[in-house]
Amino acid sequence: MEVNGKTAVCGLIGCPVAHTLSPVIHNRLSELTGKNLVYVPFPVEEGQVGQAVSGAWALGICGLNVTVPHKSTVIPYLTGTDTLAGRIGAVNTLVRAADGYFGYNTDMPGLLRALQSEGIALRDEELVILGAGGAARAVAYLAASENAGRVYILNRTPAKAEAIAAEVNQSFGKETVIPMLITDYPKLSGRKYLVIQATSVGLAPKDQDVVIEDASFYQMVSYGFDLIYRPAQTRFMKLAVEAGAPVCNGLKMLLYQGIIAYELWNDIHVTQEQAELVYQAVCESM
Ligand code: ATR
Repeated sequence: MEVNGKTAVCGLIGCPVAHTLSPVIHNRLSELTGKNLVYVPFPVEEGQVGQAVSGAWALGICGLNVTVPHKSTVIPYLTGTDTLAGRIGAVNTLVRAADGYFGYNTDMPGLLRALQSEGIALRDEELVILGAGGAARAVAYLAASENAGRVYILNRTPAKAEAIAAEVNQSFGKETVIPMLITDYPKLSGRKYLVIQATSVGLAPKDQDVVIEDASFYQMVSYGFDLIYRPAQTRFMKLAVEAGAPVCNGLKMLLYQGIIAYELWNDIHVTQEQAELVYQAVCESM
């Protein structure tokens, strides 16, 4: 595209940002939708996020993505957040408004749309979440807000799973989330579950690691979704496939969180065909 006097700028603030795939997503979206908008990474050190937000505002930047370590610390510098971002306490997208930036969390709606693109709705779905870190916590909030059935949250450190369950159940006024020690998975009933792998185990370069190795666990998987996308096929996914379950990695969630951010910035709807073309570009740049 030609950059000219009317080119709008969006970007990503975080540290580090050098390996981000977001510029591929957004610049491809600009090509496909014909928007005169470029997307660039901005490395912002810890402690500098307030200055970054006011600097972006002064420069007329129309939207920002926010990544580690600023997803929570950016919130005091915003005019407000949407309900889900407020509940989770983390934003990943800032949208320019009349008097500052408004914060959204598109990570979880991104996961929801990725699941939808695979034909999965969370409503009444029985879920197993592996892990009880920040990502798992966000998935538990999403599941509760989408009226999932029971959500079992399995973790090596049970206190963390218990804390998330207590927090989410209190926030929604229902007992949706059930904490468990990860080695207690044989206590799950023999039915099948949508399993979301939300631990850091299996991330490259330790891509042969997995939190549950036992093949009998994978007999309970109706669909295996790993939030990890490097490597493209984790050991968790491989074991689920061997047990006959369809699987997906975190790249589709990354794709859709970007697409939803782009839709918020430009007030447009990205079509399924456009989403597939962007996905191709992202896969090629991996
Ligand atoms: P994120 O913000 O990406 O979710 P995190 O908050 O560091 O990352 O959480 C990492 C998750 O992976 C946690 O659930 C962690 O389990 P603990 O709460 O017991 O630490 C899980 N995890 C990391 N390494 C693990 C391992 N070797 N075995 C089992 N779980 C592990």
